[in-house]
Amino acid sequence: MQVLARRWRRKGYTIALVPTMGALHNGHLSLIKRARRVADKLVVSIFVNPTQFGPREDYSRYPRTFAADKNKCLAGGADVIFCPTPETMYPPAFGTWIEMDELTSKLEGAARPTHLRGVCTVVLKLFNIVTPDVAVFGQKDFQQGVVIKRMAADLNLGVKIIIGATVREPDGLALSSRNAYLTTVQRQTADVLYRTLTWAKEQIIAGKNRPAALVRHMTEVIELDSGFKVEYIEFADPWTLKRQKVIEPQTVVLIAAQLGRTRFIDNIIVK
Ligand code: PAJ
Repeated sequence: MQVLARRWRRKGYTIALVPTMGALHNGHLSLIKRARRVADKLVVSIFVNPTQFGPREDYSRYPRTFAADKNKCLAGGADVIFCPTPETMYPPAFGTWIEMDELTSKLEGAARPTHLRGVCTVVLKLFNIVTPDVAVFGQKDFQQGVVIKRMAADLNLGVKIIIGATVREPDGLALSSRNAYLTTVQRQTADVLYRTLTWAKEQIIAGKNRPAALVRHMTEVIELDSGFKVEYIEFADPWTLKRQKVIEPQTVVLIAAQLGRTRFIDNIIVK
């Protein structure tokens, strides 16, 4: 991959990268199509990154569907599908990690303490291997996008980070590789997350600016009859992720909730 990227660069081609963990769905495909438009060469990486999973998380049962993924990448116009093995990415002597300030310890970082360290480390490795001009990530993982932008700026990576919109099912459930874990009954109630996010957005637009009452109502609606357990609902600044005690004109509403063994996250931006 490095040799090929160098050859492309010598010829003056620009390179776009879409990092993924595979089990590709239309959300990934929308990022791939977006990336296709912004550079001469397009690399999609597929790597289920062990270092971003906690010890009790779903690394071993994470869906691996390479044959179908390959077709989707080709349909989306990828020039290369880069799928390294865990052994090449993390040889036994591996010992260098990207650490960040409190941006990676709150929200997702609170529940998954080593998750964003693993994400940053693998993304930096992928950037160093592929040398992209542009990399495309999804709004679905909002904090991940903010963190990657921070890393790119702080470490002068010179990679432009584009955030693509969240692709959803008709009922609003954000597409996710983990939706495959849902039973039919769970699937029927899973749309409640996005319904409450859009409700919150309407409330803010109507002038409500105190998070507490909104959080209380949203938690009640989500947990009522659905089996969901809310982990956090937060109103934050979309650039710094600082919690807003009074909701400001630009805010992002972030949710994490657990349904059975599966953890879901979603968010909505309000301007
Ligand atoms: P993965 O979960 O496979 O997601 C790959 C990219 O697709 C991420 O940028 C994610 O935000 C985006 N994505 C997921 N669901 C989406 C949806 N419904 N609509 C639009 N985009 C969506 O995120 C990761 O992998 C990993 O952390 C990774 C960045 C690859 C590092 O290992």
